[in-house]
Amino acid sequence: MLDALPDRADGDEGALVLERRGWLPALVGLSDDALEALEAGGLAASWPTTMPASLLALVEELRVLCDVPSLAPPPGPPTSPRRHQRPRKQAQVEAFAAGLQPVLAFARRIVDVGSGHGHLTRELAALVQAPVVGLEYNPRLVDEAQRLARALSVGPSYETTNVLADDHVFVDGDCVVGLHACGELGDVMVQRAGGGGVVAVGLVGCCLQKRRGAVRQPLSALPGELTTQCTVPKALLGLSNLAPGDIGVEASRQDNLAGRERRLALRWLLEQAGVEVVGAGAEIAGLNRRASHQPLATLVQRAFAVRGLVVPDAARVDQAARWASTLHGYRRRCALPRQLLGRLLEVFVLLDRALFLQERGFQVVVGTLFAPEVSARNLAFFASRLQQE
Ligand SMILES: C[S@@+](CC[C@H](N)C(=O)[O-])C[C@H]1O[C@@H](n2cnc3c(N)ncnc32)[C@H](O)[C@@H]1O
Repeated sequence: MLDALPDRADGDEGALVLERRGWLPALVGLSDDALEALEAGGLAASWPTTMPASLLALVEELRVLCDVPSLAPPPGPPTSPRRHQRPRKQAQVEAFAAGLQPVLAFARRIVDVGSGHGHLTRELAALVQAPVVGLEYNPRLVDEAQRLARALSVGPSYETTNVLADDHVFVDGDCVVGLHACGELGDVMVQRAGGGGVVAVGLVGCCLQKRRGAVRQPLSALPGELTTQCTVPKALLGLSNLAPGDIGVEASRQDNLAGRERRLALRWLLEQAGVEVVGAGAEIAGLNRRASHQPLATLVQRAFAVRGLVVPDAARVDQAARWASTLHGYRRRCALPRQLLGRLLEVFVLLDRALFLQERGFQVVVGTLFAPEVSARNLAFFASRLQQE
């Protein structure tokens, strides 16, 4: 079920897996509205009782396994909107800062890993006396963060650095934080924090598939065969990013779905033109990945132009759009069970990171930090080893 997406081709392994369980007709028969509700709600959705009993049993089991407590701060008076910050990001930043409060006073320095535009660093700098440093490898974002911090009386500082390439970014007394620190960045931050004199760690992960290696090995000391069993290939880690209810970190769920459908149409047109399109995302090679958010005709025009090919006419593009719409609808329905497993994967990585730090003397709390509407990537932990100070 995890390894293959149903493709409507005879003998397709992904469809066979669902068929063998007796799930395929029920999933494919879902109306557009039911599909939308199940995708958006995920484990929290009300799954129709007409679904096969074994599928409903899986949903129930996953609900139990993924049931982590809420770390969300109690609702307070509304804060005024911050300039240069989207409301959803502001809500994430405020919840993160509230979760970190209990340990902030003990840190000699706060280090924000993958600080982006610096929203979290500015929030934290207003709360603590200790210096706040943002580490970010994109110089354009560092410039932007510095510009936004300039108006503050006591502002954070920023360094342009690739955290993965620098072993010595943390020093004794640091509190290390990451809000949507992607993939390997989250793991490396946890590993380095566990090894040194770091006093506290706070992390909300995302995009677990963003890593240099082909697999993710567990960080914590798992017994026996579990280390091998819990070594997850990069392609599967991407599942956690598609988890139901996903409001992408950068674009809305509807935008992401529409973009995916356009890329399917483009892939079909390229293949019809004799182009071999191998690997995920290969159809938009040479274009910015946001290109798939443009109208299909524009996307096709640009992708064909990049390859020096004759651009298909409007009728052909329409045909591709219809083909992609049918296939995409079918795939989305068949992907529902896979997506639920994506949340399990995300919870596993959360607990693995937390356990790694616990093994090294940290006290750790884990849970959801904000509602899925604020961000579907909402699993957090806060860890501190203040008792040893
Ligand atoms: C999803 S964004 C989150 C940004 C910010 N923390 C926020 O919540 O708005 C992840 C950030 O990590 C940065 N990043 C990724 N890998 C990095 C690395 N190896 N070293 C430093 N920064 C990195 C990216 O450029 C990006 O700004």
